[in-house]
Amino acid sequence: MLTLEKTKKLAVMSGKGGVGKTTIAVNLAVALASEGYQVGLLDLDLHGPNVQRMLGVSLPPSEGEKIVPAKYGESLKVFSLAMILQEGAPVIWRGPLKHKAIEQLTKDVDWGEIDYLICDLPPGTGDEALSTFQIIKPDAVIIVSTPQKVAGDDVRRTMNFVKRLNGKILGVVENMSYLVCPKCGEKIFLFGKGETEKIAEEFNVPLLARIPMDPEVAALSDDGKPAVVYKRETVIEEEFRKIVEKVLAL
Ligand SMILES: Nc1ncnc2c1ncn2[C@@H]1O[C@H](COP(=O)(O)OP(=O)(O)OP(=O)(O)O)[C@@H](O)[C@H]1O
Ligand SMILES: [Mg+2]
Repeated sequence: MLTLEKTKKLAVMSGKGGVGKTTIAVNLAVALASEGYQVGLLDLDLHGPNVQRMLGVSLPPSEGEKIVPAKYGESLKVFSLAMILQEGAPVIWRGPLKHKAIEQLTKDVDWGEIDYLICDLPPGTGDEALSTFQIIKPDAVIIVSTPQKVAGDDVRRTMNFVKRLNGKILGVVENMSYLVCPKCGEKIFLFGKGETEKIAEEFNVPLLARIPMDPEVAALSDDGKPAVVYKRETVIEEEFRKIVEKVLAL
């Protein structure tokens, strides 16, 4: 369906909500674009689209038949339903309608020639995930988790979903790995340790990166400022660099 034959398509998924999928998808897209690649970022969290706020972009006026996506910098095109919905308006759609919507977002948005398409998914293995696999057919999936066992339980289901659909798991990103104490600089492992490594081992996939919990990341996200741009030369930039390298090797 997606005519972007030369485009590498990646889906960012997790079993659990609120673990940082959108944060990872947005920063990865920005990081890839800043390497000089043409990138598309498609928000497929139809009920809870957050990509627009995290990048602070909106649609330009478009007159043709196709929707011209929003732009972040020169090389990143972004589309999210939030850009065409009224603020606060709920999306009340059943599966078939969501399937149609995903088809349209790939066909009717003028993505142009892009090297990478990053799809941000809602948590779990529901309609959006299934339709994404049927329509977009991602080349690889990036799994996001936190070190908590409760996140791991759900993430395993998502990883088995990807396997069942013969998808490729690029690896697992551990988000909210630790917090650095602002007073003494010691690492505080808020959500425990070891669970993400265990999952990566179980599924024989790499642990791509460990992103610390950082209150500034949350505040920047709310202001449409991706951490990879606004927190340069930090461990955050370093860890995203590791994810980018794995994506480029795809
Ligand atoms: N490393 C981090 N440090 C601090 N805050 C973070 C970090 N990663 C994500 N957050 C914050 O945690 C919240 C959830 O992140 P995000 O929206 O990216 O998760 P999600 O998995 O996409 O959620 P959903 O399941 O609702 O789509 C956001 O407020 C975000 O700013
Ligand atoms: Mg999200």
